[in-house]
Amino acid sequence: HAFFKPIQEAAPPSPTKRHTKISVIGAGNVGMAIAQTILTQDLADELVLVDAKPDKLRGEMLDLQHAAAFLPRTKIIASVDYAVTAGSDLCIVTAGARQIAGESRLNLLQRNLTLYSDIIPPLARYSPDTILMIVSNPVDVLTYVAWKLSGFPSNRVIGSGTNLDSSRFRFLIADHLDVNAQDVQAYIVGEHGDSSVALWSSISVGGVPVLSFLEKQEIAYEKVTLEHIHREVIESAYEVIRLKGYTSWAIGYSVANLARAILRDQRRIHAVSVLAKGFYGIDDGEVFLSLPAQLGRGGVLGVTNVHLTDEEAQKLRDSAKTILEYQRQLGI
Ligand code: NAI
Ligand code: 2OP
Repeated sequence: HAFFKPIQEAAPPSPTKRHTKISVIGAGNVGMAIAQTILTQDLADELVLVDAKPDKLRGEMLDLQHAAAFLPRTKIIASVDYAVTAGSDLCIVTAGARQIAGESRLNLLQRNLTLYSDIIPPLARYSPDTILMIVSNPVDVLTYVAWKLSGFPSNRVIGSGTNLDSSRFRFLIADHLDVNAQDVQAYIVGEHGDSSVALWSSISVGGVPVLSFLEKQEIAYEKVTLEHIHREVIESAYEVIRLKGYTSWAIGYSVANLARAILRDQRRIHAVSVLAKGFYGIDDGEVFLSLPAQLGRGGVLGVTNVHLTDEEAQKLRDSAKTILEYQRQLGI
């Protein structure tokens, strides 16, 4: 097009300008919530959508493209062919079956395992330097599967894990104390699912350890109350699925939050699913589960050495056993 007349002696585009490309695989409830959060937060120059259903995919692409006048400039493309993902900085995989009301995440494993053998190899082939962010459930086992299928180093294969559960936890604690959730530092670790572990001993609000905060404020607290809050975190997804059929908005924000930490090299600490062998006494197998990890442009930069009580460390090892048991049953 000759819409603009070029200016004289224009300098070539700066070779140092980064072009950020994110691919989202699976254009369902979760994939689209992630895509729209990425767009509104201006995290990518190029956003690619891939799904197995071409009409649904094109419909979603057009619907997002039609919002161009209200959004930061991002090129949005979609195809059933993985060639469009070539050269991605980050590939977010959300494709797969989801739970029906009352069904556990681990119950989805067999179905989603088959899909992953079609999805991960082409992603890794087209973007050999990408970071893989796994979201489909059961997320910890599928992150392990993606690590094996991609052949990538473990720092570049990350599961969205309990970043979401930790946000639910922070919301509930904030609600209980009537403070802002962003001032609550709290982590849920372990399996993103029924065996997750609440790290009560390291929670702080505005830098003040929460247990002594509650005591000082003379807010009556009992272990039962704390356990009730953790139970509510575990029940959160089941409740939302029972009420609206699926969860989407919170996971959309959670994954966009992780994408920002990685692509903008934020070096922030997030509870995400990482290769846990060798940490906190987990050493009887290759297992991915969530630990507080530092994220940056290289993916997982390290695992934070948080102090765990003996009880918390034991629960974490039990959570690892639960996941490993599923992997062994499937012979993976
Ligand atoms: P959905 O049914 O709305 O979307 C799944 C999409 O995957 C569909 O568009 C489908 O066409 C696509 N798909 C299926 N096979 C494919 C293939 N071989 N290649 C490409 N695309 C394919 O499901 P929803 O609600 O988006 O959930 C997706 C997954 O995310 C589920 O496994 C769910 O359990 C999980 N999830 C994980 C969360 C987490 O915190 N890790 C939070 C919420 C959901
Ligand atoms: C969630 O926790 C279902 O894993 C999904 O929202």
